[in-house]
Amino acid sequence: MKNTSSIPNAESILRTGILNQWYLVCRSEEVGARPLGLTRLSQRIVLWRDAAGQAHALEDFCPHRGAALSKGVAVDGGIACKYHGLVVAPNGTVAEVPAVESCAYHGEKRNRTYALRESNGAIFLYFSDGTSDEVPEFWLPEPLTSEEWSGFLYMTEWNCHYSGPLDNRVDPIHGSYLHNDTFTLGFGKKSSVIMLDETPDGFEIYRDNQAGVNIDHTYVTYRPGNNIWIETEIPYPKSVGGNFFRILGYPTPIDENRTLIWFFRYQRSSGWRRDLWRFFYVNRLDARHAYVAAQDEEMIETIDHNARHREGLFQTDIGIVRLRRMLHQIAKQQAQALQAAAQSVDG
Ligand code: FES
Ligand SMILES: [Fe+2]
Repeated sequence: MKNTSSIPNAESILRTGILNQWYLVCRSEEVGARPLGLTRLSQRIVLWRDAAGQAHALEDFCPHRGAALSKGVAVDGGIACKYHGLVVAPNGTVAEVPAVESCAYHGEKRNRTYALRESNGAIFLYFSDGTSDEVPEFWLPEPLTSEEWSGFLYMTEWNCHYSGPLDNRVDPIHGSYLHNDTFTLGFGKKSSVIMLDETPDGFEIYRDNQAGVNIDHTYVTYRPGNNIWIETEIPYPKSVGGNFFRILGYPTPIDENRTLIWFFRYQRSSGWRRDLWRFFYVNRLDARHAYVAAQDEEMIETIDHNARHREGLFQTDIGIVRLRRMLHQIAKQQAQALQAAAQSVDG
């Protein structure tokens, strides 16, 4: 009987990150001809661009003795390890082994590969659970595909498990406290009942007594086997032109103690209003938004992941409870599929 104890269970999947999802891993401009080594979902990955400008992603592991391919160089036909020159092709096969006349695994697929898409200035990779070679169509929410919207990608790293920033995205009431000295979130009521509506592909939460003043409305969209997007509308005060912008994102786990925080901040606008907003964003708003994000970082980095065993949630945490349940169900299904796949191999 095959030992299935190494098959991940729901808890271990949740610890490193839900699988069968597209994740944003870095900015497009970070990937060039020089290989880039990243850790995402506790997996070491090397990214590089070939001479035609096409980006590739592979497991950052040399099949010879395990050195990091990201220390090597991009060559015609793949990436060459700096240690003894072995070349791995973008499809994960061993393409060249120049140090020896013949190598037993020449031509074999030895490295994990990642489906890759570039969009809105970012690179997204698909993290499969390995039970299927199929890659779902890459899906993006409307602001990221429509000409009517324009915006920027914000990115930083926090020293925390990804569940902290995720909980934070569905906790609207914190805007009125943690961010009450900021230019976008210093307004409105200090107490609300948070309402929750199920939607065809997720849920939305909103305040019972206020709209369009603070973090008042958040949408969670789950595309099974594709990705999860959390969108929040943030109003601008009249002093900076009114209107609102939308924050779209989902934190990408780096490892169990670090998280890549990224948001698209997009606004629906056109003509001179768009130009003006983009100008202000670069020259003033970006720094102010970074101040807000730093407030979140300071709080969330103090929350130990084990805190959830003794936390005392409020009614306003209803979105957190709903999102955790959603993630747990996804992880449980993935764990069951992995168990079933292991048993059928064992067969
Ligand atoms: S470890 Fe890469 S070629 Fe030897
Ligand atoms: Fe916040």
